[in-house]
Amino acid sequence: MDAYKLLITGGAPLIGETYVSGGKNTSVAVISATLLSDEPCTLENLPDIEDVHVLIDIMRELGARVDFDPAARRMTVDPRSLNSYRVPYRQSQRMRASYYMLGALLGRCGQAEVGYPGGCSIGARPVDQHLKAFRAMGAEVEERGAIISAKGELTGAPVYFDRITVGGTINAMLAAAKAEGTTILYNAAKEPHVVDLANFLNSMGCRVRGAGTDTVRVTGKKYLHGSVYTVIPDQIETGTLMIAAAATRGDVIIRGCIPAHMESLTAKLLEMGVAVSDMDDAIRVRTVRGHRAVNIKTQEYPGFPTDLQQPMSALLTRANGDSVVIETIFESRFKHLNEMQRMGAHVRILDQTALIEGVPELYGAPVTATDLRAGAALVIAGLMAKGTTEIYEPGYIERGYEHIEEKLRALGADIRREPVEAASSPL
Ligand code: EPU
Repeated sequence: MDAYKLLITGGAPLIGETYVSGGKNTSVAVISATLLSDEPCTLENLPDIEDVHVLIDIMRELGARVDFDPAARRMTVDPRSLNSYRVPYRQSQRMRASYYMLGALLGRCGQAEVGYPGGCSIGARPVDQHLKAFRAMGAEVEERGAIISAKGELTGAPVYFDRITVGGTINAMLAAAKAEGTTILYNAAKEPHVVDLANFLNSMGCRVRGAGTDTVRVTGKKYLHGSVYTVIPDQIETGTLMIAAAATRGDVIIRGCIPAHMESLTAKLLEMGVAVSDMDDAIRVRTVRGHRAVNIKTQEYPGFPTDLQQPMSALLTRANGDSVVIETIFESRFKHLNEMQRMGAHVRILDQTALIEGVPELYGAPVTATDLRAGAALVIAGLMAKGTTEIYEPGYIERGYEHIEEKLRALGADIRREPVEAASSPL
């Protein structure tokens, strides 16, 4: 159990300007890709979040030299000292993105042994498509208990993904980056971080074409040179801040984001009656009237992201009317709504569909974060509610949101930490 809880007293509209940090899911992919380089690399705009720190621990244990300056958001990685291709289960369990060590180590060393990945428990999350891609490139892959091992000289090959997978697409790109010949990924994910990784690989001398479409071609290069690269801003943090601004009926300018990445959310907020205006690298969100209920169906990019479903469905609990939210990507991503029923939300969950009947008020209550985005959703719920909400297990939020308390407090939120006594529990 986390040693502290978050206390949020709701009701204050968020007003002012804030900024977006570097993307979590792009950072973990790009940091992993530095292991493929034959020279040191420097990455900029990295977020100071738990997942980045865990990945640093893993890479240091593999022998890489990693220096991270969180204040400057800059990391240098010298992978030339790498002396192991094994990531033990104890480390791989600490985060989802440890699965990228498979592609990166296989690509660099021709061999990888990595424990099954951990991460948020939001569904089954198999890695069969990742392994299918490695096998297509010529690797021998074995699953022994909690360990996945892969070995072989890789050669470019066609890979057809049976379903769209962000992690699978990225892992296949990592493995293909030093392989002989061209790998063609069909039915690839189109997320902005797939494009960001492609840009980083290209900056090291690899040849990646088609990222952002459903066919990605990676022509490997034996020698990849060092690079200085800036990762893109976090579109899920941007979206969470947009939703928080709308939820508190506030007026917030979010700087340092890429508005084009936010189109599916912007469209839904406009449909709800929220005023959203895009600038070059900023978005302004204001609520002028009440919120209309809307229906949401999560999809791969450019559809509505599953990672924003949780914050968005929290917002919908107070909309005028009934909303239907269909989660198509993960089986178990409505736990925040169960928690929110304790705050007065009216919700019925049938498998992967949530029926939300908007209520005029939510009331502060003790709730527990069960995963990263559930935690973000409960923060939004707390900001909307009358009275004080206590969020237990807030450590999940730190996995993916940099300085979220400070950012919200600067916008006028009443959010603070309090220690949790050993004997106390949420209920
Ligand atoms: N899937 C398979 N087989 C595979 C891979 C995926 O069946 O080999 C299924 C999954 O079970 C899921 C769907 O395909 O139903 C999509 O999964 P995907 O591989 O796209 O997700 P992921 O790589 O496990 C990443 C992000 C998630 C984000 C999803 C979807 C990272 C480290 N994680 O997960 O981020 O929700 O893509 O966009 O990049 C988060 O940030 O809170 C988070 C969970």
